[in-house]
Amino acid sequence: MIRRPRAAITGWPVAHSRSPLVHGHWLKKYGLAGDYIRLPVAPEDAERFYRHFGESGLVGCNVTVPHKETAAAACDELDEAARAMGAVNTLWLDGDGRLCGANTDGIGFLGNLDQRAPGWDARPGPAVVLGAGGAARAVVWALRARGFAPVKIFNRTTEKASQLADHFGFGVEAYPWDKLCEHLGQAALLVNTTAAGMTGKPPLQIDLDGLPKDALVTDIIYTPLETDLLRQAAARGNRTVDGLGMLLHQAAPGFERWFGVRPEVDDELRRIVLADL
Ligand code: ATR
Repeated sequence: MIRRPRAAITGWPVAHSRSPLVHGHWLKKYGLAGDYIRLPVAPEDAERFYRHFGESGLVGCNVTVPHKETAAAACDELDEAARAMGAVNTLWLDGDGRLCGANTDGIGFLGNLDQRAPGWDARPGPAVVLGAGGAARAVVWALRARGFAPVKIFNRTTEKASQLADHFGFGVEAYPWDKLCEHLGQAALLVNTTAAGMTGKPPLQIDLDGLPKDALVTDIIYTPLETDLLRQAAARGNRTVDGLGMLLHQAAPGFERWFGVRPEVDDELRRIVLADL
């Protein structure tokens, strides 16, 4: 009997994840027999769950906070991005039952910009990244992979920016938040990865004076879709891209692994997820 492939979003909690909506849309669109479920994994069970992933009955899964590092440690193989970040968001079993892990957050970030701002990386110059958490790690990896240099990290807690810059080394620099305006003048790209500006959180405190008018401004936040930062940037003439596409594009490689079809991030998917926000 051929088993219907089943994948899942794993993490703690997973109740608010939009991943089932995204994968459910693709399963239906491509007429595939398969399932994508929510599977909460309690922190005390995480190590055992990923180490014995073969017993789960899943063909693979997505991994969200707080298990991205635990899952990476359980993998037999990691892709280059996952190795660089020490964290995975996508797992699958290969033909020999070995657990393989990838980190597609950076690919999702790039896919979003490629789709919504074609040519954005034609002249990769200095990039400014705000924030130094897990999302910043993926964004810094992605920008270095596309040749942006230097990538300058600014974070409210400077120490965390320094740790992230040290992690990547060459081409990545850390600065205190209060030095931001001195660096905006050379930026080809400004990325917000902080939680500031998210619905229910205070807006990002930033003065965009001095940012070149041809710099691209993007936020990885998608609730709300248009943050104060993006509104401010658009009002002064900068090109802007919201964060929703990063969520959609990071999901595509996992879907292809598990269900065998390379899915398209289309307008209909964007509408479906937007309606659920
Ligand atoms: P994620 O994994 O999604 O990146 P995180 O690791 O919690 O989430 O990181 C949140 C980031 O948002 C951090 O860089 C945090 O700054 P601190 O390291 O100083 O805490 C940043 N952040 C959160 N609220 C912020 C605010 N109001 N202003 C500026 N930065 C903020």
